Amino acid sequence: MCPRPIGFFDSGEGGLTVMREVARLLPAEDLVYACDTAHFPYGPRPMAEVRRYFLGFMGFFAAQGCKLVVVACNTATAAALDLLEGGNLPVPAIGVVHPGARAAAAVSRSGRIGVAATQGTCNSGIYPRTLMQYRPDGAITQQPCPILVIRAEEGVISGPVVREEVERCLSPLMAAGMDTLVLGCTHFPHMEAVIADVVGPGVTLIDPGLATAAEVAYRLQADGTAEPGGGVGRRTFYTTADPGHFVEVAGRLWPGSVTHAEQIHLDFYQE
Ligand code: DGL
Repeated sequence: MCPRPIGFFDSGEGGLTVMREVARLLPAEDLVYACDTAHFPYGPRPMAEVRRYFLGFMGFFAAQGCKLVVVACNTATAAALDLLEGGNLPVPAIGVVHPGARAAAAVSRSGRIGVAATQGTCNSGIYPRTLMQYRPDGAITQQPCPILVIRAEEGVISGPVVREEVERCLSPLMAAGMDTLVLGCTHFPHMEAVIADVVGPGVTLIDPGLATAAEVAYRLQADGTAEPGGGVGRRTFYTTADPGHFVEVAGRLWPGSVTHAEQIHLDFYQE
């Protein structure tokens, strides 16, 4: 029987940080990455619109024969949370927020947890709500950092300009005395080195992609759908915008891993 792939969905290049962790943990799996660069960024968009895009992509992943979809986008996870929890989708799907929040709640000593995310994710309140489930003693501070999303999507993830922008974005979180910072947008782990340098060794960084990869491994084992070990699976990439541009930027963010992408045209229906 033909192996069934795992799908990854984001607005742009951010979800690659999640796919990278799954590729590391489960190298034998076939992986399909599809992103909505034509509608990037999702952060400022109404949640109902993001939800419509998410549903369009779920149809695409179903047509690809995916066995599981990873919503490698915090904003889309927030927009579609009830659908992810309801389990009534054409392909089973998991988001990145619960695994990330669980990991942050487990490592924080003081319960003072910062969340850097998009405007949409912050407005939804998904992180404070989920973190408080695991840490009722928690004190959560959120900060929208839209400029960092734009920089990562441009492939600009280091240098003095990015450092200054990271400092400015994170200063309210630093002022709140966090000991743990959730990288609550999948674009941010691309610039983890700069973020780590700015916050210093006293703040533990949480990349939800790591915990999500572990969750994927667990789900496939539990369902009996994991690929047996050995070999490296196929990796395919799709975008709703210019595939050449996607490959060029991805080459800077995840060197050597994305050599080809194809453009897709999806119909986005009203719910
Ligand atoms: N990478 C996405 C997230 O995790 C979306 C960023 C955007 O498109 O604004 O929220």
